[in-house]
Amino acid sequence: MAVDILLGLQWGDEGKGKIVDVLTKSYDIIARFQGGPNAGHTLEFNHNKHVLHTIPSGIFHKNKINIIGNGVVIDPTIFEKEIKGLNKYSLELDKILLISKKAHLILPTHRILDSASEISKGKFKIGSTLKGIGPAYMDKTGRNGIRVGDIISSDWKEKYASLLTKHLNLLKNFKNLPDYDLKLMEKAFFQGVELLKKFKLIDSEQYLHEEILKGKNILAEGAQGSMLDIDFGTYPFVTSSTTTAAGACTGLGISPGKIKDVYGIFKAYATRVGSGPFPTELFDENGNKMSKIGNEFGATTGRARRCGWIDLVALKYSIQINGVTKLMMMKSDVLSGFKKIKICNAYKINNQIFHHLPYDINSNKIEPLYEEIEGWDEDISNIVSEKKFPKNFINYIEYLEDKLNVPIAIISVGPDRKQTIFRENFKIHS
Ligand code: GDP
Ligand code: IMO
Ligand code: MG
Repeated sequence: MAVDILLGLQWGDEGKGKIVDVLTKSYDIIARFQGGPNAGHTLEFNHNKHVLHTIPSGIFHKNKINIIGNGVVIDPTIFEKEIKGLNKYSLELDKILLISKKAHLILPTHRILDSASEISKGKFKIGSTLKGIGPAYMDKTGRNGIRVGDIISSDWKEKYASLLTKHLNLLKNFKNLPDYDLKLMEKAFFQGVELLKKFKLIDSEQYLHEEILKGKNILAEGAQGSMLDIDFGTYPFVTSSTTTAAGACTGLGISPGKIKDVYGIFKAYATRVGSGPFPTELFDENGNKMSKIGNEFGATTGRARRCGWIDLVALKYSIQINGVTKLMMMKSDVLSGFKKIKICNAYKINNQIFHHLPYDINSNKIEPLYEEIEGWDEDISNIVSEKKFPKNFINYIEYLEDKLNVPIAIISVGPDRKQTIFRENFKIHS
């Protein structure tokens, strides 16, 4: 029996969906613990490319259970679209997808509030995905939220009406509002709610507890990344949930003592979508090359992702707060053909050197201090064994392991399931 966590260590989009899909065969249950449709998790297999938003990334494996945990926020409108998108795969979704009654709902007015809030911030906007995430979590912590379990209660319509009134009053405080057609949005919302009712709505913490007692293996799937965490990310340019390992405990009702491995995923370089500090961001040819070769466009919004060199100051911090036991390096193939690879080991701020993440990286002018290593020219996307890696790529891996002090267990060399190399040192449930 094991409960392992898989989470992103940077600013999201590290490739979590791909690796969860790859690892699912070694688990009985995949459980999403936070976030909502702001996430876009891409899976590629058998010439299919599929993006999931709320549904866990183990969904394509028959006989595996997928759970949307209590820490997730669900938009019924998007949920319905996701379910429709999965129809062609002939999955028995009503059997393999279970939903926590304690997960909160994203209402149409949460989305409108999200947009209104961003408009009001002007150039200081967060760069939100505008999926209503912030307002929905605000209602959760403000104790006003509506949960999945409410849709099957007798006073569901009253609960909805009461929160709607609250939201409409709130909207009056904004000078500028986005264009919206609430009636149309509500129609899609209630249609999605009807679909939600057809799924098994469960007390997922109880279910997971019983499955743990039976000796089942559970993989907790995170969304976003540690640098977007509500407490430890680059606040206020963050999302509104706990994206770090602790979020798996609160987002699923699993005790910390049950957690075994924490898999931390990172790209061989770095990206960020939306506003906020990004010390190693590139505005040159190297950045353009990463963006082009890495096809760095958001899976949820299609926005161009900002690109930069790997940042070990931020990565070490993420490893520390999550207690990462194994690392997984993604998109290594994108770095083929760079003459030199730069690695940020420290920040210089006002002539002071920082080896740890300073409190305020928003307003300070940060100069990243780099070390440079030789790049490699070889295409590594078809390599199936680490023994075939080019020498300079091995140097990069060893350099990172030495600095980060955690083994890199998996190396991804392309978007497809098959382009995944398990290092010799890595065994699941060992
Ligand atoms: P997630 O949000 O962490 O699941 O990541 P996204 O799906 O948003 O973004 C990762 C993108 O990189 C997707 O388009 C994946 O198909 C792609 N990807 C994942 N691993 C690799 C890799 O090793 N190499 C390349 N070239 N692409 C990858
Ligand atoms: P996955 O799970 C990358 C970013 C947004 C914005 C900030 C707040 O695919 O890695 P929100 O919509 O949560 O209010 O946006 O967080 N963001 C993500 N960036 N990947 C994600 O998810 C993200 N989810 C939110 O761009 O900067
Ligand atoms: Mg993504």
